[in-house]
Amino acid sequence: GTTARYEAEVAAYSTGSSVESNHTGFSGSGFVNTGNAVGSYVQWTVNRSEAGPATLAFGHANGTDAIRAVDVTVNGTVVAKSVPYPSTGGWTVWKTRVTTANLNAGSNTVRVTATTADGTANLDYLDV
Ligand code: GCU
Repeated sequence: GTTARYEAEVAAYSTGSSVESNHTGFSGSGFVNTGNAVGSYVQWTVNRSEAGPATLAFGHANGTDAIRAVDVTVNGTVVAKSVPYPSTGGWTVWKTRVTTANLNAGSNTVRVTATTADGTANLDYLDV
């Protein structure tokens, strides 16, 4: 089927996070720099015409050498724990990381939550 892009900058995000555009190569009008803290998150609302497995591809950049792990939560349930987001090679080097999960027909929430004190990688978009 077709893939829809959901930009991070128009999603919901935790207090202490901000939309920025200082590192080139992002999609849309910017990306979200989540707060450097455990629990920082971005949450997208994703619409699906049919229930079933979906490929969630998160566009991101991590310009540090430290792995920025996240839990992926769908509709309030953790579907992937401590998914590692290692260095992408620089803040302007954007890559995708994929998690597969079942989505409902209609509206779904998809959240990535930092499990380390560094927060998440900079998050650009979710392709579903
Ligand atoms: C730098 C970088 C930000 C990044 C931050 C971080 O400040 O410019 O884009 O989010 O580091 O370590 O999270």
